[in-house]
Amino acid sequence: MEENKETKEWLEELGEKFLHKIGLKKGQKVLDFGCGIGDYTIPAAKVVGGKGKIYALDNDEKSLKFLLGRAKRYGLKNIEIIKTSGEAKIGLEDESLNVVLLYDVIHNSYFPELEKRKELLNEVQRILRQDGIVSIYPKHAIPGDIKKEVENARFSFARKFHATLLHDSCLTESKVFNFSKV
Ligand SMILES: C[S@@+](CC[C@H](N)C(=O)[O-])C[C@H]1O[C@@H](n2cnc3c(N)ncnc32)[C@H](O)[C@@H]1O
Repeated sequence: MEENKETKEWLEELGEKFLHKIGLKKGQKVLDFGCGIGDYTIPAAKVVGGKGKIYALDNDEKSLKFLLGRAKRYGLKNIEIIKTSGEAKIGLEDESLNVVLLYDVIHNSYFPELEKRKELLNEVQRILRQDGIVSIYPKHAIPGDIKKEVENARFSFARKFHATLLHDSCLTESKVFNFSKV
C-alpha cells in the first residue's frame, strides 16, 4: 500500500529522530506492545539495527500482516511478531529488554479494567532489565492518572518529551513519558 506523505516522512526520518530522543540505541531489545501497523516498530527497527531486535506484539492479525509487508519493503529483518489473544501476559523472559513502548494502548478503549492495566505494568516490570525504560504515549488517557498507575507499579518518572509523533497517519505534536525501574 502507498503511504501518505506524512507517514513516509515519519517512517523515513522523523520516527528515528524521535526514538533516538527518547533513548533508543543500537543493539537494544525493544517490545512495541500494541504495535498496530508498526508506525513505531519500523523506525525502532532501524534505530536498533541488525544486532538489536524489536518484538512487535498485537492481538490484531490484519495490522501485523500490514506491518510485515512494511518491514519487507524497508528490508528489516530484526522484527519478531508476537500475535496474542489480548492477554496482558507477555511471553518474553525476565529482565530481557531495554525498552518497552506502550504507545496509544494503555487506556480505556483497550484496557478498561484497572486490574488488567496493573497486570500489564507488572509484566512490563518483569521483562525489563534493571536499567530498562518504559515509554508511554498516553493518547486517549489522562496523563496524570496513568502516571500514578505506572508509579504504583514500581516505576519512577524519568522524563517528559514534547515531540512530533505520527498518529493515524498524521504528524501531531504530543507528549511522551519515560519511566525507569525503581
Ligand atoms: C491505537 S493502536 C496504536 C498502535 C501503535 N502503538 C501506535 O501508536 O501507532 C492500538 C493497538 O493496540 C492493539 N491492542 C489493543 N488491545 C490489545 C491487547 N490487549 N493486546 C495486544 N494488543 C492490543 C490494537 O490491536 C491496536 O493495534
